Amino acid sequence: MSFIYFDHAATSPMSSEVLAAYVEAANGGPGNPSSLHAHGRAARERISLARDTFARLLSCQASELIFTGSGTESDNTALFGAARAQRQRGRSGIVTTAVEHHAVLHACRQLEAEGFRLTILPVDEYGRVSVSEAKAAIDETTALVSVMAGNNETGTLQPIAEIGDWARNHKAIMHVDAVQAFGYAELNLKEMPIDLLSLSAHKINGPQGVGLLYVRKGTHFQPILYGGSQERNRRAGTENVAGIAAFAKAAEIAYGDLSIRREHAEEIRSAFLARLSEHLGQDRFVVNGHPDERLPHILNLSIPGVSSESMLMNLDLEGVSASGGSACTSGSLKPSHVLLAMNLSTERVSSAVRFSFGLGNTIEEADKTAKITATISARMRIRL
Ligand SMILES: Cc1ncc(COP(=O)(O)O)c(C=O)c1O
Repeated sequence: MSFIYFDHAATSPMSSEVLAAYVEAANGGPGNPSSLHAHGRAARERISLARDTFARLLSCQASELIFTGSGTESDNTALFGAARAQRQRGRSGIVTTAVEHHAVLHACRQLEAEGFRLTILPVDEYGRVSVSEAKAAIDETTALVSVMAGNNETGTLQPIAEIGDWARNHKAIMHVDAVQAFGYAELNLKEMPIDLLSLSAHKINGPQGVGLLYVRKGTHFQPILYGGSQERNRRAGTENVAGIAAFAKAAEIAYGDLSIRREHAEEIRSAFLARLSEHLGQDRFVVNGHPDERLPHILNLSIPGVSSESMLMNLDLEGVSASGGSACTSGSLKPSHVLLAMNLSTERVSSAVRFSFGLGNTIEEADKTAKITATISARMRIRL
């Protein structure tokens, strides 16, 4: 049986060039970047080159970048680090959205338990937050605003520029989780009103277990990990040198051909939708998420009458890997908090499946998977 991987939003395969960069760095000797000797200097140099690459790609200063151990760690460091620093300035409000990844939402809940006032903004049926509602929630007491760039379950993009401008006018810190948008959207930090930005390597064909946090110069921020003086005293712990080198390689490749990458994902997505309409019928399924303001590589759809679990199980039996929502909840039967926040019907929520596309996927795979999906749906409906 041939296997089809349509779960790139959960994690994406390392490309051969990235793997080569990883192996080259891992083979490069046993240097701890904090050591003063030649081996340590060589490891430090690798990190420094990687940091320069990100500074160039994101249009920021290298000193504004902190390497972390994951997107989750970047989010937590941003939120706890900024919220605690802001509390010392008498600001205690946190504003976020109902569709954030749990790395943000659960961290915000913890901050609420520590005494912060939390406002969770609702979203419309497409998963988009309203700028006017965000503006109404942000004032002079707001410490921090956290709004994701692109959603991991539906791909819906948020109006981060408008919200960021408003946050800046009120001297609130603006955090953006760009873990899914990175590698598909332009992120120019010189121009965008963003103070903190979280990224993760394994969503852009880099290795798992490496993240990046951008902290704009002058942003009030406290570290959350204490220990050594790595990352200019902002994130203690020996750096993942090979992982960081490979992450920089993956980012360089992604941004070297951003439009090709976007077009490729868009082509697979459209082919899949066209074939599904053909085989299943256009009125038999519905796409969840914004029709235009969206990332190109994520497709979330519901096939009423066929539960997410049965669809995923049957797809798996046919060699197709897809997902029921975010990777963290896909192993459980819990309905997606993102789709619930969009106020979709119970039937739509319980039959949602996420297909996400990327490196190595082909139109033939899209055709085949659409056909398999239609066949499974027909089989399931007969059983009803
Ligand atoms: C939007 C978003 N934020 C944060 C994360 C967490 O990243 P990591 O898996 O690197 O911890 C993910 C992972 O799925 C994500 O999609």
